[in-house]
Amino acid sequence: MIDLRSDTVTKPTKDMLAYMVQAEVGDDVYGEDPSVNILQNKVAQLFNKEAALFMPSGTMSNQVALRTHSEPGDEVICDTNCHIFNYESGAAAALSGLQLFPVNGEKGILTLEQIEDLGRPFDHHFPQTKVVTLENTHNRAGGTIYPINEIKKIGKWTRQNDYGFHLDGARLMNASVATGISPKDYAEYFDSISLCFSKGLGTPAGSILIGSQSFIHRAHRNRKMFGGGMRQVGFLAAGAIYALDNHVKRLAEDHHRAKQLAETLDELGMLENEMKWTQTNIVMMKAPNGNADDIVVALFEAGLKVSLVNNHKIRLVTHLDFSDDDLERSIKILKKTMKDFN
Ligand SMILES: Cc1ncc(COP(=O)(O)O)c(C=O)c1O
Repeated sequence: MIDLRSDTVTKPTKDMLAYMVQAEVGDDVYGEDPSVNILQNKVAQLFNKEAALFMPSGTMSNQVALRTHSEPGDEVICDTNCHIFNYESGAAAALSGLQLFPVNGEKGILTLEQIEDLGRPFDHHFPQTKVVTLENTHNRAGGTIYPINEIKKIGKWTRQNDYGFHLDGARLMNASVATGISPKDYAEYFDSISLCFSKGLGTPAGSILIGSQSFIHRAHRNRKMFGGGMRQVGFLAAGAIYALDNHVKRLAEDHHRAKQLAETLDELGMLENEMKWTQTNIVMMKAPNGNADDIVVALFEAGLKVSLVNNHKIRLVTHLDFSDDDLERSIKILKKTMKDFN
């Protein structure tokens, strides 16, 4: 069975596991896990920020970031298709009393022009705008990359207005490898960034929140409040250190394979977006007849797992455990199975 549902399905490689097992560990709630401390310093340096905080999941990184930037009753401007709005179980409302203000971006990309009039002036009627959050790469839009010029413009505006500027960078390394723009060049414009290790980078779990010393100091308390304090978690941090050293450049292979899948779907008339939007490791397939669930089942029966986005849309994600042989087999399965749907 080939699994293209997500880049989270990978298992640690033998070398990563060997590196994890030898990690020196301690109680991280006391701040005494050497491997966690090494990882946090390494990531802070990589992003040219003052501090970083290891987290159990990307969702917790995002939610702790929102909480740290705001107070209950405040408002967060985001894109309609972003992960924070769609896939975090309503956490911003449930855990932090926040109101999200979703705006339709093109392929997940908001422009300054779209949002610059949405910041609320101080008035006793209004929620207070406190945070603007972007997602790079953008999952639900199909792995699209945020143009750095737009980030720059929005960043300038958020600074002028004293809004927190957060990046859901679960897959920021994919954007960085695809564009050649370094993590620190992206990070320059943001007050906080979350980065996941358990997606394209291939660790079993873990994410990290990056920001200034004072931001991370406050985030540390919020992480504890959200139940995210972990103990001898250096084994996972070691996996993340290994991934940063060994699994970043290879993301280009995932991007290359994703393009080949997209080309196949394009030939079959089933690519959701134009080719130019397949920019990293996510490919969106369309089911114009609203029968995406039947297609998912048929592909599963043929040996290919993919994930349902909605009745008209299916997602395929390439990753560390998806080889050239798997690519060849997947293309054959897609061509054969899709004959029944055309
Ligand atoms: C863009 C984005 N942000 C955040 C997350 C959340 O990560 P986790 O599943 O570790 O909570 C995901 C997970 O798929 C994601 O795609």
